[in-house]
Amino acid sequence: MTKTTLGYSSYQIGLHWIIAALVLFQLFFGESMTTVRDAAEEGAAVSPTDQTLASAHYWVGLSILALVLIRLVVRLASGAPQPARSGPSWMQTAALASHHLFYVLLVATPIIGLLAFYFGDPWGDIHSLNKPVFIVLIAIHALAALFHQFWLRDGTLRRMLVPSR
Ligand code: HEM
Ligand code: HEM
Repeated sequence: MTKTTLGYSSYQIGLHWIIAALVLFQLFFGESMTTVRDAAEEGAAVSPTDQTLASAHYWVGLSILALVLIRLVVRLASGAPQPARSGPSWMQTAALASHHLFYVLLVATPIIGLLAFYFGDPWGDIHSLNKPVFIVLIAIHALAALFHQFWLRDGTLRRMLVPSR
């Protein structure tokens, strides 16, 4: 069981937003990696931009894995707040489930990416499938955060911006 706290620490907030920014980078520019891989198979030339973005994809992806592992250790050690109680109970269950799914995706996607990089398909196809799953989850998550903050007015977004300790 994770210790229950009143809010997130500055480390947890910092890690949340850095990881979110890096994941968005991967989702926006990941196709360069696919382009470079496909070109290598066909012996075709690639643009220097795609080459640079593919190389960034590799290192940003591994950084996400390292930061998420640190984040999970911080969460286990320092705890996390309970989901907001302002909405119906299905919303609390959905919040917990989506946060767990985020952590599973954040660990699994870079590992499957590594398998795709070194062993090719079917790992490449599975890795690419994580893209729409991530996009749908992020959209629901961001809308839910805004709904909590501005409709239910329970300070949910604020607690991911202002540290409690
Ligand atoms: C959370 C981290 C990551 C995210 C969100 C992510 C996301 C993506 C996306 C959106 C694509 C393009 C898919 C498409 O063309 O439709 C892609 C392709 C790819 N990524 Fe990642 N990636 C991550 C981490 C990594 C890591 C750590 C590696 C390797 C070290 C990696 C290796 C690859 C490879 C090899 C491809 C090409 C797949 C193929 O050949 O079809 N990725 N990734
Ligand atoms: C790639 C993007 C994102 C990822 C991977 C992500 C991931 C997560 C995860 C895993 C948690 C659970 C934290 C924990 O209890 O350990 C969380 C919480 C939270 N996220 Fe995000 N997030 C992303 C983007 C966003 C955006 C764009 C917003 C705001 C619009 C946002 C607002 C929040 C808020 C307010 C919480 C706290 C929820 C609560 O206290 O119950 N996140 N996020």
